[in-house]
Amino acid sequence: MKVAHAKFVVSNTKVDQCPKSKIPEYAFIGRSNVGKSSLINMLCNQKKLAKTSSKPGKTQLINHFLINKKWHLVDLPGYGYARASKTEKKTFQKFIVDYFIKRKELVSAFLLIDIRHKPQPIDLDFLRWLGENLIPFSIIFTKADKIKEKEIEIKVSEYLDALMKDWDPLPKYFITSSEKRLGSEPLLNYIQEINQSIEKL
Ligand code: GTP
Ligand code: MG
Repeated sequence: MKVAHAKFVVSNTKVDQCPKSKIPEYAFIGRSNVGKSSLINMLCNQKKLAKTSSKPGKTQLINHFLINKKWHLVDLPGYGYARASKTEKKTFQKFIVDYFIKRKELVSAFLLIDIRHKPQPIDLDFLRWLGENLIPFSIIFTKADKIKEKEIEIKVSEYLDALMKDWDPLPKYFITSSEKRLGSEPLLNYIQEINQSIEKL
């Protein structure tokens, strides 16, 4: 699938103010600065559709983007950045928790992980929480351009080892670089497959 049309719809902090249209929705979540907004821009072939910054904490709201007039991509605030207050660092802001629990249109979450980093408790805990709440998810490794190509496989298998303690089967994963514009096709095709299977229902 290619993204021919992408449009910002609305930002808010209240799940009941999210768009009413009953189209499939996919949300990007993960640590602040991991590259959620940049990935949305890469997938949509745009530079400034989602706001990005080298400083963590740029995205502060639930942002809906309408893709190909058929489905929503959602950019969420990150978690776990150093300047956040202690409670903010440990817990998710309530409106994000609410979003995941109440948003019926959400088909799948994508947890973004910086490929350079060792598995972090905050991400593993969040995945467990998604599982407990029966929210489907996949993993997207980001910033693959920051390491050598042969290191990519090593990092991914280290991460999968950590996931094996909690997950069988292991979650689906994607490897991306927004900088080098890598990895959008498998991700968009996966979303398209799900959309098509929903259309057939
Ligand atoms: P918050 O909104 O603060 O939660 O951050 P975010 O996850 O949306 O990250 P954002 O897309 O704003 O990117 C954070 C920084 O990482 C920016 O300086 C981006 O240019 C950089 N970045 C994002 N993706 C990549 C990537 O694939 N490769 C490299 N080298 N840098 C990246
Ligand atoms: Mg962002």
